[in-house]
Amino acid sequence: MARCYLIISSLLLLLVALSISPSYTLKIKSASFLSPKQVMTPGSVANPYLFDIDFPRGHIGLKGFDAEVVDQDGNPVPLHETYLHHWVVHPYYVRKGLNLSQLDMPRDLGSSPDYILVRNGGLCRDRVRQYFGLGSETRKTSTYVPDPYAIEIGNPEETPDGYEFKWLLNIHAIDTRGVVDRQGCTECRCDLYNVTVDEYGRALEHGYKGGQDCCYDKTQCRLRNGFDRGNKTRTVYLKYTVRWVDWDSSVLLPAKVYILDVTDSWERSEGSTGDNHEHFCHVEYDVKLCKTKGDGCVDVKKKSLMIPFNGYIVYGVAHQHAGGIGAALYREDGEGICSSMPKYGNGHEPGNEAGYIVGMSSCYPEPVKVTNGETLNLEFNYSNAIGHTGVMGLFYILVAQQLPEPGSSLQAHAKSVSFLAFPAMTVIVAVVVLIAAVVYRRQNMEDGYQSLST
Ligand SMILES: *[C@@H]1O[C@H](CO)[C@@H](O)[C@H](O)[C@H]1NC(C)=O
Ligand SMILES: *[C@@H]1O[C@H](CO)[C@@H](O)[C@H](O)[C@H]1NC(C)=O
Ligand SMILES: *[C@@H]1O[C@H](CO)[C@@H](O)[C@H](O)[C@H]1NC(C)=O
Ligand SMILES: *[C@@H]1O[C@H](CO)[C@@H](O)[C@H](O)[C@H]1NC(C)=O
Repeated sequence: MARCYLIISSLLLLLVALSISPSYTLKIKSASFLSPKQVMTPGSVANPYLFDIDFPRGHIGLKGFDAEVVDQDGNPVPLHETYLHHWVVHPYYVRKGLNLSQLDMPRDLGSSPDYILVRNGGLCRDRVRQYFGLGSETRKTSTYVPDPYAIEIGNPEETPDGYEFKWLLNIHAIDTRGVVDRQGCTECRCDLYNVTVDEYGRALEHGYKGGQDCCYDKTQCRLRNGFDRGNKTRTVYLKYTVRWVDWDSSVLLPAKVYILDVTDSWERSEGSTGDNHEHFCHVEYDVKLCKTKGDGCVDVKKKSLMIPFNGYIVYGVAHQHAGGIGAALYREDGEGICSSMPKYGNGHEPGNEAGYIVGMSSCYPEPVKVTNGETLNLEFNYSNAIGHTGVMGLFYILVAQQLPEPGSSLQAHAKSVSFLAFPAMTVIVAVVVLIAAVVYRRQNMEDGYQSLST
């Protein structure tokens, strides 16, 4: 008898405990915005820096940022019409009361007393400073920041006196309707753009064949002879969806963005620390056509980087251009941390365009501890069955300083909000109820009387 009561009461306790934990669930908010409009014509390039874009305000934790190109009716535009080379967003502070038009804004918010760019954690010094950024893969790449982590922004204690917190969006779109060579235009081949100087009027480096220096804002890619230009002017927008939570340090742990670049020029030397100022990232590189044509045509590019921080990697994703066949991050001893693989489309419709990378797989590893001074290795693979210009090898990681303490509300929270936890919990609760009912019934029968419900 006593044992039965013990079982029932412990089951009830378990039930109560299980039904309480979902109350830690975060209220994830979501809002979609349209960027300022971009007017595109066949072969045209838009690469605007858009200041003070719409964005959720206040002290919040970012949980995701997704984007796609849409037309004036809100319909998704396929990559074979408007190729999305990239979009990037980052925050900045601007001196209060400053009232400048978009045109007056300096593109490089570098060092001005009026603006302070808020950079990601590193590692590239002056380039690749964004918080979020993707390209053609944007529609099918998960940017969700795993629970209980979030990217903390807008902390009023961190805002310098007299400044306001705002967001900058750079969109790089290439209209490839009617062009002579879609791949050449999306890879920014200089001959197709008839460009010999970069956007600041400086002569291109000797031997520079393609990349962002040849497809800057308002350049034009060559159109097919006889292509009917007609009136094909179209207005497009970047539609972006931000997911966030109000900041609550009792349930959230901050995670920081770091971006590792396979073209980083960093090399270990006497006394190097791995800090941002030791890095210069080229961002783009070329993949040369392989000499022995066949299946084995893989360009493997590697880079070893010293990690200048302590923390735990909780998310990772690579950025590759068409031709990419996978990327990975390893420890020095070869142990894998994250591999991110491209998904190619095989149709015509937006999100599934044949020949384009329409998604990259993201990693959600059990938090991987990394230690200041440790070396990590990057590996980026491209098929070089054909040559490529201006490809990229960026690896985004999210790093938490701290893990949830075992048994803490954060831990309970982390469990309760994971998508699988809800169905799993429902099953557990159902089983517990069932067992409790059976035990209760048996006990009642043993006692020789029936319970009211039967
Ligand atoms: C800022 O400039 C715009 C247009 O130039 C003007 O309409 C607006 O009133 C100005 N705002 C302030 C606070 O001066
Ligand atoms: C290319 O640019 C040069 C001047 O920079 C111009 O003379 C020439 O007509 C251009 N070619 C085409 C095909 O646009
Ligand atoms: C082109 O079409 C747009 C609407 O689609 C229209 O507003 C514009 O006036 C047209 N331009 C010309 C030159 O026909
Ligand atoms: C890159 O290619 C090399 C050689 O084919 C292979 O050993 C390696 O596993 C590949 N890495 C990734 C991340 O796909």
